Amino acid sequence: MSEVGFNKKTVRDIDLKHKRVLLRADYNVPVKDGKISDDYRIKQSVGTIRYIWEQYESSIVIISHLGRPEGKPDPEYSLKPVAKRLGQLLDKEVLFAGDTIGPEAQQACEALQPGQILLLENVRFDNREEKNGESYARQIADVTKSQVFVQDGFGVVHRAHASTDAITHLLPSVAGLLLEREVSTIEKAVQDPARPLVSVVGGAKISDKIEVLNKLIEISDCVAVVGAMANNFLLAEGHKVGKSLVEREALDTAKDVLSHVRSKEKKHNFSFMLPQDVVVSKKLDGRAPTRIVDLSANNLADIEAYPKLPKHSASTIGQEEIILDIGPISAAQIAGAIRLSNTVIWNGTCGVTETKGIAGAHDPFAHATHTIMEAMIGASNNHVNKPFSLVGGGDTVSYVEQQGMTEDFSHVSTGGGASLELIAGHKLPGVEALEDKNAT
Ligand code: 3PG
Ligand code: MG
Repeated sequence: MSEVGFNKKTVRDIDLKHKRVLLRADYNVPVKDGKISDDYRIKQSVGTIRYIWEQYESSIVIISHLGRPEGKPDPEYSLKPVAKRLGQLLDKEVLFAGDTIGPEAQQACEALQPGQILLLENVRFDNREEKNGESYARQIADVTKSQVFVQDGFGVVHRAHASTDAITHLLPSVAGLLLEREVSTIEKAVQDPARPLVSVVGGAKISDKIEVLNKLIEISDCVAVVGAMANNFLLAEGHKVGKSLVEREALDTAKDVLSHVRSKEKKHNFSFMLPQDVVVSKKLDGRAPTRIVDLSANNLADIEAYPKLPKHSASTIGQEEIILDIGPISAAQIAGAIRLSNTVIWNGTCGVTETKGIAGAHDPFAHATHTIMEAMIGASNNHVNKPFSLVGGGDTVSYVEQQGMTEDFSHVSTGGGASLELIAGHKLPGVEALEDKNAT
């Protein structure tokens, strides 16, 4: 069995009493007209802040990015709404300064008292942030008068930026509790999972996730490909896909993966699941008729046509049609595999879950995602077998949040790119830069 464990120092390993702590969080949350539509990342940061705050007479200066403002101030990407929300969650005032190294921050940091919490403006308003600029990191450390750096922004540790890398060369640097939990949970699921391990992979592009997909094929007992990513495989298998989202330039990649998995299936107890049926429509907004195309199983096509033979169109996607979800047979099949599993890794929804149902109807392209989600949390199985469930990726996490199911999963990651990098087996620069546990 491989050795799994978080080998970086954390806030628990150092003395924070009387200290000025610089905390990097990932508050890259969706904000529109000053309103935060998803505060999961903010909620998840609360534990570490409370822990630091409880250490005698410490004070905390928090830094984060939001969006991609391209190195200059842009009010659309202000962190101000986050300060307010964080204050509500902590039930404590969170001060805010409208810059990171300018006069506002200087004044606020001068005045900051033990027990107080201050959030600075978006670090990406300075173009040195993304360039990992040492001078910027030094200014942040000086202006904030920080004595210790705590990295807790799991979502951004796959980036080597001034606030994730350069800063660690200037201050003693340790991990926050969220970062520790994210890294150790994801590493454990990948390196030492309770078997069987089922992975469900979706998302728009195959090119973005090919490395992760290959890794999951290597370590899982069953891999189900869903969402638009599956379209590439359906195309590679010779199905017509109409106007569905595909990456034609990735066709060879899909073919290579297919030939690898089909031979792996023959030699090992492994299965690779592609949709057998799909939900199609001519429009994405749910206002055009939808139908199910029974691509390979033909069960549904047979039942619907009985006692006649099914029409050709029952198993072919029309030229104008778009695949918007996987079908009920496929969803039931994946749910079945999940019910028999002990670990599930899920990244990517099955369909266009964003499309809202008309007049209170169910969201038209979210049925499969809902079915497999219920299997993961044991809801469709009377909790007889509830696998360890790990969810990552922006859309998938938003879906789970909207359904109010976050608590039902074993771990819902705050990281998109970062969790994929970790699953793929890559080192994360923002974690590597922290002090080793056994360092003196
Ligand atoms: C994210 O949401 O993926 C992280 O906050 C990192 O943001 P970035 O992709 O803009 O670097
Ligand atoms: Mg990203």
